[in-house]
Amino acid sequence: MAELSPLLAARWSPHAFDPSVELTDGEAASLLEAARWAPSAGNRQPWRFLLGRRADEAYKRLFVHLAVENQRWAGQASALLLGAYLRPAAPAVAAPDQAQAVYDLGQAVAHLTVQAGTIGLHVHQMTGFDRAGLAIDLALPDDVIPHVVVAVGRLGDPLSLPEDLRRRETELRHRHPVTDLLLGLSPG
Ligand SMILES: Cc1cc2nc3c(=O)[nH]c(=O)nc-3n(C[C@H](O)[C@H](O)[C@H](O)COP(=O)(O)O)c2cc1C
Repeated sequence: MAELSPLLAARWSPHAFDPSVELTDGEAASLLEAARWAPSAGNRQPWRFLLGRRADEAYKRLFVHLAVENQRWAGQASALLLGAYLRPAAPAVAAPDQAQAVYDLGQAVAHLTVQAGTIGLHVHQMTGFDRAGLAIDLALPDDVIPHVVVAVGRLGDPLSLPEDLRRRETELRHRHPVTDLLLGLSPG
């Protein structure tokens, strides 16, 4: 197998988080700093975040809008972080389209994810939540579109999970081989 950075090789999305661990101010700052320094088209930095730490109001508001399937495990995480993007103003011709803003947000979260690994944290991204309900609950401005909620914490005990999640937690992870990802040129 080709060589992979140890940080990337060690990254995965756990369901079991340690419910006794709090996210420190330093850790939160480190994660957001990583996101802040992500590249973005035109350096527009269209990402916005809301950080909730266990038991605070933001955490509770984010948690209640998660899909039931995600609520089964995400409440153990030390923090829930909403990732939102700024919808480009229409209809300016040169305005970046919405997909670009989502792409940029994804890069910021990817940076945050790798940074988490450097400080012993894991993250588990979720798009399984009620975006419309959350936007109303948080009274987000019309141009701030919630896209992902990221569970952050230290690894917990897989035995604390319900049976089906425990099995998934310890299963081998799979990826398509690189050969399946490469596009070819059509003849002619
Ligand atoms: C944008 C995005 C949305 C995701 N949404 C969910 C989700 O709602 N619930 C969930 O359990 N996992 C979710 N995941 C986690 C993926 O299922 C996980 O990344 C994938 O199975 C690969 O596993 P790995 O991250 O451990 O390599 C999401 C991941 C991404 C990147």
